[in-house]
Amino acid sequence: MENADIMALMERTEEWILPELWNVFGKDVSEDITVKAAMYSLFAGGKRLRPMMMMLTSDMLGLDESADADVKYFAATLEMIHTYSLIHDDLPAMDNDDLRRGKPTCHKVFGEGIATLAGDLLLNSAMERLFRISEKDNGYIYAASALAKNAGIYGMIGGQSIDISSTDKKISLDLLIELQEKKTGALIEAAVVTPYYVSKKLTSEESMTDGTAIELRKLASHIGLAFQIRDDILDVISDSAVLGKSTGKDERDSKATFVTLLGLKGAEMRMEEEINSIRDILSCFRQKGFDTANYETLTDYLADRDR
Ligand code: IPE
Ligand code: IPE
Ligand code: MG
Ligand code: MG
Ligand code: MG
Repeated sequence: MENADIMALMERTEEWILPELWNVFGKDVSEDITVKAAMYSLFAGGKRLRPMMMMLTSDMLGLDESADADVKYFAATLEMIHTYSLIHDDLPAMDNDDLRRGKPTCHKVFGEGIATLAGDLLLNSAMERLFRISEKDNGYIYAASALAKNAGIYGMIGGQSIDISSTDKKISLDLLIELQEKKTGALIEAAVVTPYYVSKKLTSEESMTDGTAIELRKLASHIGLAFQIRDDILDVISDSAVLGKSTGKDERDSKATFVTLLGLKGAEMRMEEEINSIRDILSCFRQKGFDTANYETLTDYLADRDR
């Protein structure tokens, strides 16, 4: 069961991000089948946790409200990249899944060719958006390039590459952590830090030395691990009707996950450590006078989410 506080945050996130997402493609292309496939997956009922994290970072740090429209633009862009990663992840050539977000996967509805293109389109349009907003305000160049980097070989794609190469193999815990930090952690890092980069118009050099940026990345890294460990656990303990995607597949497909490597108990213990680390970092933010209440609500949810 989801508690009232997280439900309220989910509703607020939807109100904040949906109007932006509705308009990511022009009306002139709305009848195109690839656009329809991309929109199908964008609106198939994702939890919108990455946009939520963007809202929460702005809340916690009390960031400049005048940047809100631009943060939202970045948030929709990130949700497009996340959705593309799932469309491709579900393809027969990757995880071969039929169910996503409680609905048939993109390729089940539109066929593999169009689903592949829908993923490509979401990624390409996301990159176009990053260029466009950087042209509008070149203070956003680093925020844009950091997001693109986190989606690439140093981030999500790099993690998916290790994921596929590790199938049917027993890998070390260090490699598993690298896999998870990249495939899931990198886009979560982008969600947590981008509002700060945007609002402060940080350059790459500044982002390396800025204390708040460093703390936010640490927070994100524990959120990312906690999130993916729970994803691995849910694959074992959850029901596909609740989860909205297939269950029991990681073991069947010989995937390297926290559960297949450490067992259910081991995975749960590691997740608890990550949740404790998140709470410790939030308490540092709180001691500095920041309002961490909403991030704490999210942390409670991450600890025992059932979808
Ligand atoms: C699923 O992410 C893929 C992983 C990175 C584990 P989410 O659980 O956030 O997926 P949606 O957006 O709610 O469908
Ligand atoms: C995929 O991880 C994460 C992505 C980068 C898409 P999984 O393969 O475990 O995600 P689910 O369980 O299918 O959502
Ligand atoms: Mg996968
Ligand atoms: Mg998968
Ligand atoms: Mg999974």
